[in-house]
Amino acid sequence: MRDDGTTAAAVGAALLAWYDVHARDLPWRIGPAARAAGRRPDPFAVWLSEVMLQQTTVAAVRGYFARFTARWPRVEALAAADDGEVMAEWAGLGYYARARNLLKCARVVTAEHGGRFPRSAAALEKLPGIGPYTAAAIAAITFDEPAAVVDGNVERVLARLFAVQTPLPAAKPELRAHAAALTPATRPGCHAQAVMDLGATVCTPRAPACGICPLARFCAARAAGIQGDLPRKAPKPAKPVRHGVAYIARRADGAWLLERRPGRGLLGGMLGWPGSDWSAAPEPAPPVAADWHAAGEVRHTFTHFHLRLAVRRADVAQDARPERGFFMAARDFRPAALPTVMRKAFDLARTAGLSGAE
Ligand code: ADE
Repeated sequence: MRDDGTTAAAVGAALLAWYDVHARDLPWRIGPAARAAGRRPDPFAVWLSEVMLQQTTVAAVRGYFARFTARWPRVEALAAADDGEVMAEWAGLGYYARARNLLKCARVVTAEHGGRFPRSAAALEKLPGIGPYTAAAIAAITFDEPAAVVDGNVERVLARLFAVQTPLPAAKPELRAHAAALTPATRPGCHAQAVMDLGATVCTPRAPACGICPLARFCAARAAGIQGDLPRKAPKPAKPVRHGVAYIARRADGAWLLERRPGRGLLGGMLGWPGSDWSAAPEPAPPVAADWHAAGEVRHTFTHFHLRLAVRRADVAQDARPERGFFMAARDFRPAALPTVMRKAFDLARTAGLSGAE
């Protein structure tokens, strides 16, 4: 599209008209009709959803959002929650530093801001775990600040609309400038959500549905027939493969030998099976003396590496004295409270025949 004010206004109007009809129904969202009638989104719900949605899809987030808000309906309740319980509810969403920062943020908002989220993107960005994207999203959606909200979906829409040929991530400043130029002074919150919904449902990564796109007539990539090639991406370096070992021990009374991982670093603060640190270090000694059996290997991909985790299992005596970890009674153990890689290891040990583990 042409980068002038008249066209920006026409694009903005087309987007809002589309959003008024096609806005996704999301549990944390005040839809366009209710918003026009004066209802305002709950800053706590918008913040929680935006933190959950970083690197995660709406489909995956829905259930987590429902469980979190049922258990901790307000920021003060979350601030008062037990760390381990919050980490257990977050299990499976990944990027566990987000959950640790979520708690920190809830505590700062409660203790230092009287339970009210600051109203500007600049002030929001000072809170733990809130970066420029999340600050802009909360400020726009909740407080109608005309902040430019740019996530991966928005980058794709803008790269196509303006036929930006620079590959990501180098294109980010250019795309951000386009986003800022398009952001309207009226209904900036609806505008931000409209671009995100368009990217998620119409201007999709593969096979975009240009036939039903409200911006098709403005789209430079479509005019050139290159919409499927944009945004271009710089090749990513291949991920290294790391190896590790996990030891899954079950005591005679059914209790499981678990470990709480250190607060910082990968899977920080989460429950897991004792094992190695997934570096090139030699295999550590088992956490408890037992007759260990190989159960197989689990594969899991993290942001910066692929992991191959050898799983060993054992049944141990009631009086076993582990050198690491603690026994958790069977009635307290929920596999869903484990991070995904640890749950995969548990599933493998179970199918490999850990006695009585059903
Ligand atoms: N993705 C992340 N945040 C979103 C929002 N508020 N609306 C639609 N999609 C989103």
